[in-house]
Amino acid sequence: MEPLQLKQAFKEIFDTEPMLVKSPGRINIIGEHTDYNGGLVMPAAINKAVYVAISKREDSKIHLFSESYQEKYIGNINDVKKSDKAWANYILGVVDGFLKRNLSVAGFNLYIYGDVPLGAGLSSSAAIECATAFALAQLNELSVASMDLALIAQKAEHEFAGVNCGIMDQFASVFGKENYAMMLDCRSLAHEYIPLKLDGYKLVLLNTNVKHSLSDSAYNDRRAQCEQGVAWVKAYHPAVEFLRDVSEEMLLTHVQPKNNETYTKCSFVVAEIERVKKAAKALKEGDLKALGHLMFETHEGLSKAYEVSCKELDFLVDQVKGLDDVLGARMMGGGFGGCTINIVKDEAIEGLIETVSKAYQEQFGLSLSAYVVQTGNGSQTIEPTGIVSTLQHSNF
Ligand code: GLA
Repeated sequence: MEPLQLKQAFKEIFDTEPMLVKSPGRINIIGEHTDYNGGLVMPAAINKAVYVAISKREDSKIHLFSESYQEKYIGNINDVKKSDKAWANYILGVVDGFLKRNLSVAGFNLYIYGDVPLGAGLSSSAAIECATAFALAQLNELSVASMDLALIAQKAEHEFAGVNCGIMDQFASVFGKENYAMMLDCRSLAHEYIPLKLDGYKLVLLNTNVKHSLSDSAYNDRRAQCEQGVAWVKAYHPAVEFLRDVSEEMLLTHVQPKNNETYTKCSFVVAEIERVKKAAKALKEGDLKALGHLMFETHEGLSKAYEVSCKELDFLVDQVKGLDDVLGARMMGGGFGGCTINIVKDEAIEGLIETVSKAYQEQFGLSLSAYVVQTGNGSQTIEPTGIVSTLQHSNF
């Protein structure tokens, strides 16, 4: 949907002029399940996004319309609560976050549309939350730091969607920059933009088109295991706050004797944080082979130690392992479905997609979707003409 069409669609329903905002989905090159452990991640925003058209109302009502679900939701600023519509909850959670921070929000009309594939591990929900947060701040002329918008969006995910996620997705959706990956320190929230120079190669996402239903509870469960590991270490090392502060030796001494499974999970995270540092070095030096190798290692860990992969994701990684044209591959995001991310030689992309799609179809009777990644910018307002004005991160 073009910006002009979005504006028209909004006007047809709400009979007034909207302001337009967009927030992208994200990929993650490396650093999985490290964000909620105060660790490092390396995401980038993509050119698929959630678009929001919004206008103020005279009353305190909240009128929402979802293009994808062709559904309306009506609520009130003075009584924001969870609804039975999942898509509306991401928006309502953000409104609630503004109000809890005493940021005053007027009643509003909001039309939402997106082209981030759902359930693909590309953070469509973070994109909804960030688009809403950015739109509400603009509409109500509130001066809220960009990082606070991301934090409000993250809290919405915790409280209105029930997933205790880290900050990676919302951060990437707000702060993304075309042609760059970002290395974010999830403890200090400091970040560095790293040029995504993949000369002769591209990032290709292979979408399993499955999302196993246990994913949300398993995610929260992994987070709890990490926190348990930290608590056991902290009893002997009081300065320890996150797995970020923990070494493999500490885990061997204080966690493994208590619970081997908790140890294995924590050990993966500690190793993964180190891999992000190595990956940043490799990317800066243009050593794509080393980067790819680290990605394979990450997959192995996510699959065997952290146990958040699934047979479909493992199959896709196995298919490309050992091919000269594929430097690295791994499952991406929370797990239990969604996409693998692959570094593939330009000339080989088409053939690879064809071969793997065929094998995947034969193995699971499912069709595969493939996307060649294009990076994009973070949250921004858009003119109906399509001109964008990128968020100024002045307060960061
Ligand atoms: C999901 C969460 C993120 C992050 C990843 C795993 O995408 O929303 O916060 O934890 O999983 O790296």
